Amino acid sequence: MARPRPLLAGNWKMHGTRGSLGEIAALRDAVTAGRTRGTDVLVCPPFTLVMAAAELCAGTGLTIGGQDCDPQPSGAATGDVSAEMLRDAGAGAVIVGHSERRANHGETDETVRAKAEAAARAGLMAVLCVGETRAEHDRGETLRVIGRQIDESVPPGARAAGLALAYEPVWAIGTGLVPSPEAIGEVHAFMRRRLASLLGPEGAGVRLLYGGSVKPDNAAEVMGIADVDGVLVGGASLTADEFLAIVEAKR
Ligand code: 13P
Repeated sequence: MARPRPLLAGNWKMHGTRGSLGEIAALRDAVTAGRTRGTDVLVCPPFTLVMAAAELCAGTGLTIGGQDCDPQPSGAATGDVSAEMLRDAGAGAVIVGHSERRANHGETDETVRAKAEAAARAGLMAVLCVGETRAEHDRGETLRVIGRQIDESVPPGARAAGLALAYEPVWAIGTGLVPSPEAIGEVHAFMRRRLASLLGPEGAGVRLLYGGSVKPDNAAEVMGIADVDGVLVGGASLTADEFLAIVEAKR
């Protein structure tokens, strides 16, 4: 089975104002110039920048995404944004189930599945995040936790084109700590098997991303691991230069 096309995704989290749109424009120019050829590139800025960023990137190979969406298409949900609204703003993807949302907003696997289903309904690719905490890791529960998160948050009818699964160990996010290549490989192989049993042949095409302290100096090693089809980058995606150094490290 051919490997899925790599996906390099940036999550800006709660960073960026209009002044940061220049970074998106610089990235778009690099994509257009062919510097990221052979890969799909996605940047997820805060909601306030999605529409302007999507307008800057319309018709180019740089996709803009949201960082969360509500399960409902519209309704009485003050402060929330639906997948349909993101799509209307020009987004092509949305992150769901990031550990910061699971921890800070009490999102359960069931909520995350509803959000992934909303993304599919709106025609957005869902970048669905899973990952164990430090305590779970230390207790040797990593695969059990990831298995539960996959079983309960991946929509049963998910299509490969509409889903990427990101393994982000909570203890590796923003810490400079990265699991060993063997440990990442073990989790990714497990995710691949689990998706196959859940989705059948479709599971082989779902991109499996690694996220957590990915930087230009470790990107090539991470992306060289079997069953790693890309990365989800936080801090190092905030400037076009650093993010491009990660994208180019892949070659
Ligand atoms: P860092 O790359 O800053 O560790 O963040 C990873 C992350 O949470 C991406 O979603």
